[in-house]
Amino acid sequence: MGNPTSPDRREDSYAVVIFGVTGDLTRRKLIPALYELTVGNQLPDKFNVIGFARRDWDDQKLHEVLCEGVREFARTRPVNEQAIEKLTAEVRYIRSSFDDAAGYQRLAQTLEDLSIDHCLFYLATPPESYIDIIRQIGENGLANSPKGWRRIIIEKPYGRDLVSATNLDEEVHRVFREEQVYRIDHYLGKETVQNILVFRFANGIFEPLWNRRYVDHVQITVAETVGVEGRAGFYESAGVVRDVFQNHMLQLLTLTAMEAPVAFTSDSVRDEKVKVLKALRHMSPAEVMTNTVRGQYVSGLIDNHRVPSYRDEPGVSPVSLTETYLAARIFIDNWRWSGVPFYLRSGKRLPKRLTEIAVQFKQVPLALFGARNMAGDAPNRLILQIQPDEGILLSFGAKKPGPSQDILPVDMAFCYADAFGGEPPEAYERLLLDCLAGDATLFTRNDEVQSAWSFTNAIIDGWASQTVKNLPVYEAGTWGPPIADNFIDHDGMAWRNLD
Ligand code: BG6
Repeated sequence: MGNPTSPDRREDSYAVVIFGVTGDLTRRKLIPALYELTVGNQLPDKFNVIGFARRDWDDQKLHEVLCEGVREFARTRPVNEQAIEKLTAEVRYIRSSFDDAAGYQRLAQTLEDLSIDHCLFYLATPPESYIDIIRQIGENGLANSPKGWRRIIIEKPYGRDLVSATNLDEEVHRVFREEQVYRIDHYLGKETVQNILVFRFANGIFEPLWNRRYVDHVQITVAETVGVEGRAGFYESAGVVRDVFQNHMLQLLTLTAMEAPVAFTSDSVRDEKVKVLKALRHMSPAEVMTNTVRGQYVSGLIDNHRVPSYRDEPGVSPVSLTETYLAARIFIDNWRWSGVPFYLRSGKRLPKRLTEIAVQFKQVPLALFGARNMAGDAPNRLILQIQPDEGILLSFGAKKPGPSQDILPVDMAFCYADAFGGEPPEAYERLLLDCLAGDATLFTRNDEVQSAWSFTNAIIDGWASQTVKNLPVYEAGTWGPPIADNFIDHDGMAWRNLD
């Protein structure tokens, strides 16, 4: 995986142009990330932020909003006012609708005035605007420059199904070459997610066990306590399947399942990830019914506070059929994983915020210790804890001291905070830096996105072929609809108890 190298031409001038700069993403994530990079002296000396959006703001207003964003959301404390000023002193704001050529001409002029060599376009707008922006960038001659590089970061969702993702790719490739395109999935910027590959391929002891001979099954959980957080407009047409499953969860799965790349270059890593996605067993509509479970939360308690039902959230239809929970049983039809089920589950309003990958190993061949042997409830497991409490746990059985042969499950634990101290950097810090350095390893390639959609689309189509009036419900603050337990129970297994 690429090292977070600083841009190689430090004396050149760089700009990031944020489309949709007035939105939440800039304030909460992008500007705080650029600020941390400024504090760490990782950005080039000449670095400008240019905002582009429809709202009636000016340079001064954008400056204020960005400064407030840093003060509110910076990862490290106390905030360094000098660094804020360094980053934001020269910000420019271009007020324009996204389909108005005049705005792009003003942008071109601004890049000229600031003598920008290298320019990164960041699409932080609602996805409906992506195509307009990309076309205008192309038509106004902004996609290439003899002075330096032009790159574009495109936020998720990248399309809403296979057809729209393919269309979007066609539009993108009319204007940009693939190597200029950085499709972001912020999960790939998380330290613990990057560590999956280091753990697997920089250590000799785990990889020999990492296959169908020794692995019984894998459980990947992305649990959230939050609800739709004022994003009902987006979420109603997305649901877990588009919001988290098609991207973050399938990324976790590919990193867990992929073969060792021939080198840690962006194409070698992504080649291997694509192979996993292509080997996912596509579900027929009938298989979707037996291999997936959908759910929707109703009112319940989160941290002892009552929260409303999904259907009562502002902006949600009272008869909504959008899933806020999804569990799936997935098979990877390749030599390494044939027959090993991967169980994925994700939901909003679950009891805890927690993301983990649990690899459960097979039992020993003979129960030497009889009924007290390492059995169903205490198998060997390796747990990659992505967040919070970032770390890795290995569970095994140990003899309880004393005359009996009782065996109890115990853990060997590695904890990031204890080993390395402090908090890991935010995903966006790493991803922005990688993009500036031209390293696309942690971004998704077009064939990767398409393969992920191709698999996910079969699930969406399977659901669409069924007429339902209601989805199975679960109370907010519980681990999903009861039917999700039956589903895994049916295979003689159980979801990991994460309470
Ligand atoms: C986003 C989804 O991509 O990821 C959100 O749109 C979700 O719905 C978020 O809450 C989860 O990210 P994280 O980093 O908090 O696990």
